Amino acid sequence: MLRVENATGGYGSVQILNGANLSVERGQIATLLGGNGTGKSTLLKIISGLMKPWSGTITFDGQRIDGMRSDSIVRLGLVQVTQGKEAFPGMTVEENLRLGAFVRHDRAVVARGLERAFEYFPILKTKRRQLAATLSGGQLQMLCIARGLMSEPKMMLLDEPSAALAPQVVLDIFRIISRICRDGMTLLMVEQNVRMALLLASYGYVIKDGVIKIEGPADALMKDVNVKLSYLGGTVAEQEKQLNLNH
Ligand SMILES: Nc1ncnc2c1ncn2[C@@H]1O[C@H](COP(=O)(O)OP(=O)(O)O)[C@@H](O)[C@H]1O
Ligand SMILES: [Mg+2]
Repeated sequence: MLRVENATGGYGSVQILNGANLSVERGQIATLLGGNGTGKSTLLKIISGLMKPWSGTITFDGQRIDGMRSDSIVRLGLVQVTQGKEAFPGMTVEENLRLGAFVRHDRAVVARGLERAFEYFPILKTKRRQLAATLSGGQLQMLCIARGLMSEPKMMLLDEPSAALAPQVVLDIFRIISRICRDGMTLLMVEQNVRMALLLASYGYVIKDGVIKIEGPADALMKDVNVKLSYLGGTVAEQEKQLNLNH
């Protein structure tokens, strides 16, 4: 459904991606892992059109999307949820959700989207008239995922949905993401929480120095100690500690 071939890109004259390749099949949950600053968010932004690739080919659902505007890409059914920062604090939960349907000027779609969002995230229904500024970190992350769903995408790109959240909240969010995928969503998810990501995903990619260094079925990656050591910086002891955090 999504194929990225030899994508390069960066900021100003600084090259970050050095020819990244990955693909995600329809209905698949794939995860993109890698240490801090290795280009995970950059790759997602290049896929979703928030940034233009310098070179390379990106196809989604049989269509070239590299160089397309992000709103056109959303219209094709590919939406990115960034790291929980995109909610407007001065707007209510419901207003934020409605914005997510901006590419679909259809009242029925908006109504259906709200219903679906509230079904996945009942807490957002009880807070629908409250300002987003009053939400907790976990609820904000839920709002951003729900908002991404409002355009009725076929595929979502999630950038660290568990970032900076308490373990119990992380579990809640992963459970809902898993449900969304069972209902037919295709997903590419960037995660720091490697264990959770590999439990949820069926396939994983590890990026380093702007290229995909390792890829494979999630259960194989889980067993592969090289992966565990290569995606995390720091000492082996620090890595072990990080890995054990989520047992
Ligand atoms: N807006 C930006 N301008 C300049 N450099 C950036 C910008 N965003 C990210 N970078 C740099 O690009 C590299 C990759 O960043 P990013 O893709 O966000 O990494 P990751 O998501 O894997 O942590 C980092 O070195 C980061 O400092
Ligand atoms: Mg990032």
